[in-house]
Formats: sequence, structure tokens, C-alpha cells
Amino acid sequence: MKVYIEKDALAVAQKALSLIKNQITKKADSRICFATGSTPLDLYKLLIEDYQKGKIDFSKMVTFNLDEYLGLDLKNEHSYHYFMDHNLFNHINVKRENINFPDVKKYEKEHQNGSYEQVIEKLGGIDFTILGIGENGHIAFNEPGSQEQDITRVVDLTESTINANKRFFASEKDVPRKAVTMGIGTILKSKKIMLLATGPKKAQAIYDTLLKPVSSNCPASFLQNHKDVTIIVDELSAKLIKNKI
Ligand code: PGA
Repeated sequence: MKVYIEKDALAVAQKALSLIKNQITKKADSRICFATGSTPLDLYKLLIEDYQKGKIDFSKMVTFNLDEYLGLDLKNEHSYHYFMDHNLFNHINVKRENINFPDVKKYEKEHQNGSYEQVIEKLGGIDFTILGIGENGHIAFNEPGSQEQDITRVVDLTESTINANKRFFASEKDVPRKAVTMGIGTILKSKKIMLLATGPKKAQAIYDTLLKPVSSNCPASFLQNHKDVTIIVDELSAKLIKNKI
């Protein structure tokens, strides 16, 4: 895995921007998988700025998203559909018909595990995936205990994740307990993967991802088994790995 340690969150976003621009410049119809959460927000602001300056064109890009809560209306301001529209898609020239999410209704009612993989495969697979990481080492909503071959499915959120995400909701009881998430196996099929982490709370997860043996205790450690992963972290998230990599 390639690791970049940047001085702060903005520098992480700038480095991430350069990698995505490189991808889209080389292949305008890139199929890119986006992440939600607070970590990629600076990157999304920079993507919007570059679009407004005419430096980047998203008209051919196809997007996927990693996950979505169960039990929320898709228009709810806490849904990941809303998050992506509000923080990126509404501000760039991506075509509506090129935006893909796991079909929450299908997964909720019919437990159609695997249907998202069919959509992804039909569209030609994912070229580039953007990931954040949870304090417990989760990627998307693949919590500790997730397996390397997992596909998109309905999962229960752990207390640690509910606790971390309650800052976005009026109270902890409003945080959904279930989500549909792309599996580790699906994520590992992406040609390139870029994981971003900022702040001291992610330091242990970054250490476990890079320096501990691969284990479902830290789902992000499965990235060690992928041949094109770039990890971009700030000094704070890197404090346990400095001088060790
Ligand atoms: P965060 O979430 O970017 O809001 O810290 C990341 C994650 O839980 O994957």
C-alpha cells in the first residue's frame, strides 16, 4: 500500500483531489465509488471548486456509493442520498442517470443480497473507490467481524459506529441501527482504492490497517490484500505509524 502523510486535513484533500483528477483526466467515463462521512467533505468542496473553474468535467462519470441507512426516507437530510446530493452531486455536472446507490428497498424487503453487484458488473465494475475509515477500523459499514468475501448486504451497526454517528442526529435514539453496505469483497474488486483519514481518533485504526496482520477485527486491514491502494492521512492520524512504515 502506498501511504502519504500530509500535514493537515486540507493537504489530505488536496492530495486526494490530485489522484481523482488524474483518474478522470485519463478516463472521462471512470466509474467512481464515493464515500460519505465528514472526512471526504474537504475533497468534495475542492472537486466542486475545480468544476466551477472549468478544470474538471463529470459529464461522463458513473458513480456508485458505498452504503445507505435503512429505515430513513431517501430525502431525509440524514440519508446518504441527501448527503451526496447536497455535498457534491447537485453542484457538478454528473448525470442523474449515472448515479448509483444500493437499492435500499430491495435489500430491506426482499433481502436481495448481490443485486448491487449485478448493477456494478453490468456497468463494467468500479475503477476507483474513495474510502473513509471508522474508529473501529470499519470501511463503509463493514464492522469488525466482516469477512473478506462479503458482498453488499444488510448489516447491524455497532455501538461504536452509532456513537460516532450520533453527532449528525438530534439524539442517539434517532441514529438508524441498520444499513445496507457494499461488502469488503465488492470493495476489493475496485481497480484502485484510496482511503482517507484525518484526526487523532483514527490513529489506532490506521495502525491496525497498515501494521497489524490482516484480520476481520480491523476490516480495513483486508486492503493489504489489494494491489493498488493509496492511504492518505494527516499527521494526527499518522501518529502511531510514523517512523514505522
Ligand atoms: P467520518 O466517518 O469520515 O465521519 O469520520 C468515516 C467512517 O465511519 O467510515
